[in-house]
Amino acid sequence: MKYCLIVLQIALLTGVSQAQSINVKKAFSGAQSQISVMLQEVKNADTADKAKLVSPRTYENGKFKMVVSRDWTSGFFPGVLWYLYEYNKDNKWLSAAEQFTAKIEPEKYNTGTHDLGFMIGCSFGNGYRLTGREDYEKVMIDAARSLSKRFSPATGVIRSWDHNSDKWQYPVIIDNMMNLELLFEATKFTGDSSFYKIAVSHANTTMKNHFRPDYSSYHVVDYDPVDGSVRGKMTHQGYSDESAWARGQGWALYGFTMCYRETKNIAYLKQAENIAGFILKNKNLPSDMVPYWDFDDPRIPNVSRDASAAAVISSALYELSTYSVNGKDYKKAADKILKSLSEKYTGKPGTKGGFILDHSTGHRPAKSEIDVPLIYADYYYLEALLRYKNYQGNK
Ligand code: GLY
Repeated sequence: MKYCLIVLQIALLTGVSQAQSINVKKAFSGAQSQISVMLQEVKNADTADKAKLVSPRTYENGKFKMVVSRDWTSGFFPGVLWYLYEYNKDNKWLSAAEQFTAKIEPEKYNTGTHDLGFMIGCSFGNGYRLTGREDYEKVMIDAARSLSKRFSPATGVIRSWDHNSDKWQYPVIIDNMMNLELLFEATKFTGDSSFYKIAVSHANTTMKNHFRPDYSSYHVVDYDPVDGSVRGKMTHQGYSDESAWARGQGWALYGFTMCYRETKNIAYLKQAENIAGFILKNKNLPSDMVPYWDFDDPRIPNVSRDASAAAVISSALYELSTYSVNGKDYKKAADKILKSLSEKYTGKPGTKGGFILDHSTGHRPAKSEIDVPLIYADYYYLEALLRYKNYQGNK
């Protein structure tokens, strides 16, 4: 009887540890093979007329698609290369990362978008973190200056987009929270607190206006540029104005977790915990914890998933798990998502341009990038794997 109990206990323990454990070595080995394929695809695409295409973005309708440096996704491919280098310290990845990072440099003077955090932070930011190169630091400071030009004291927020002026006057999207990290970095580099103050103002105003009582986030909030009042709340990439677009919830979770890291303001930690509650307790979150593209699409379960949202959420939960009293639960959830991604959402080796993950959704309302690989899914997946590896045993 005693023997049976011990066997049962061991079986349960093994079951639990198997359910929680992710084979990081295998995941990175698969990722490296895929990204080697992708580098070859990039080489093939790098003909004279396509010289301005700097980074892969997706594989859609049988085509490997690359973007110019001003595309919001241009920094993720260099970021993927930096994460591979971080994992194995192989100079092959270092020189590829340096080569593709350099291509994004012109964007440091781009004042036409809020996406500089994605573009410059994921490329130069990771490069700086891993090499300490001073020229990378300078690029980040220039980019933070450009991003700051989109802030207006009247609204207290950074303007996200300049397009579709028939729809809004001063649109701010939840994704914009991700770009604040660049501003926090710039204050650390320069000692100039104006970057930090803009980031805090943006986070506070977003916390006030972007969330519903259940802590789900609107996608777009439109401000009156003169008096800063809210003109409207709507969606652009989600199912409807009142729905919870999955990746937007991921940006919100990641953004407020990062703001807590940078400021230690407990209000941001609480906000991140409440957003995590909305996501993790949502009745439409499937059992493998890879969300459908929008939590409120009535076609669920017969609609596309968004592996990119899952990767962002998993990575954010790892960080949140190190700050929160609910850390164990967040870590467990992050593990579960990461395990699903690594076992069920990786692309078939050697196919679809070498992207690591499949089954993301980019812009469903525009009928664009539905159930495809996306480079930012790969970026946050590798980040989550590295966080899993580094946080093992912490909580
Ligand atoms: N930041 C744009 C997107 O998440 O699709």
